[in-house]
Amino acid sequence: MVPRPMEAPPVLRVLSALLVLALAACDRETPVQQRIAGADPDRGAALIRSYGCLTCHTVPGVPGPRGVVGPPLDRFAHRSLIAGIVANQPDTLVRWIMDPPSFAPQTGMPAMGISMQEAEHIAAYLYTLR
Ligand code: HEC
Repeated sequence: MVPRPMEAPPVLRVLSALLVLALAACDRETPVQQRIAGADPDRGAALIRSYGCLTCHTVPGVPGPRGVVGPPLDRFAHRSLIAGIVANQPDTLVRWIMDPPSFAPQTGMPAMGISMQEAEHIAAYLYTLR
């Protein structure tokens, strides 16, 4: 008698497919250490447009110019350093967005008069870029 190859019962196949989907969803979700209380990523995207960040940066999901003066901000949530100098975490990112020259006096990115609350919305959007 020829042994039949082992085949997972349909219920297991469905469960493993769901597990794969759940893991994929986890990767897209903002991890706890990058969450900013009260910040709204959608408002952040609108602010990125209105402050003209796109003249210097390409930002996925925000339509407009695709500037190349600064680095593209795709997958920014995975970057470990901001501009290669400070740890990429919410408080430093908010301060960077408000006043980059306070970290790097020679940087080409100017302070643009962005309020802390606006910078928090913008940071929340940047942390959706995974
Ligand atoms: C005049 C051009 C210019 C504008 C406008 C500008 N940036 Fe930048 N940005 C830069 C440059 C250049 C760098 C690289 C800085 C460095 O390495 O010193 C940078 C770096 C950054 C970084 C760090 C990137 C990384 O890879 O670590 C972030 C985040 C960022 N900018 C966000 C913004 C946001 C948000 C805005 C709009 C509020 C903005 N920038 C507007 C030029 C600009």
